[in-house]
Amino acid sequence: MSKTGVNLAVFASGFGSNFSAIVKAVKQNKIKAKSVILVCDKPGALVIKRAQKAKIRVILIRREDFTSRADFEEAIIQRLRNYKINLIALAGFMRILSASFVKLYRNRIMNIHPSLLPDFKGACAIKDAFNHQAASTGVTVHFVDEEVDSGPIILQQEVAITKKDTLVSLEKKIHSVEHKLYPEAIRLFISGKLRLKDGRVCRS
Ligand code: GAR
Repeated sequence: MSKTGVNLAVFASGFGSNFSAIVKAVKQNKIKAKSVILVCDKPGALVIKRAQKAKIRVILIRREDFTSRADFEEAIIQRLRNYKINLIALAGFMRILSASFVKLYRNRIMNIHPSLLPDFKGACAIKDAFNHQAASTGVTVHFVDEEVDSGPIILQQEVAITKKDTLVSLEKKIHSVEHKLYPEAIRLFISGKLRLKDGRVCRS
């Protein structure tokens, strides 16, 4: 990465277990980020309490306070500029970013998704894989492009679905993989080992 290092913004709307896994890796110096902030759009989200406990700055921006998505995103962009953010990690952020936002931060927005993309896109990926009786599913960390749950794949890990699994046990397995895979993808980005070639991520 650049000589000035990475200032990371984690965007989250809900529970925040991936946010906590990322913050833990930063505190353990496994992720060498210069600074971390949380951007959240939901005032009551548990992730806000997690951030406060970890002494991470919270930027709360509610969509309802703006008449258009463009104004909502402009308010976010202003804050990102204030904090010189150069990497965004979407971690259960339940909003779709516009094409112009994606363009502004092209290849600097990551997302985690609980399936082996392109399989099981959407908001209920774990349940969908389970109900589909797939033999396996997994976790994907990818750069975000203009489509939903789409873009160059950084890391993927398969998770087997056994006959003994319930939806709850599968969710547990997926989340524990997520909490390792996301910090690792961010670590690779910061170490400058990710290159994009012909729309694919290569590691040097
Ligand atoms: C995670 O499982 C993440 O993969 C998923 O939301 C969950 C957030 O959990 N994201 C998506 O489904 C994106 N399409 P968390 O709030 O505990 O980090």
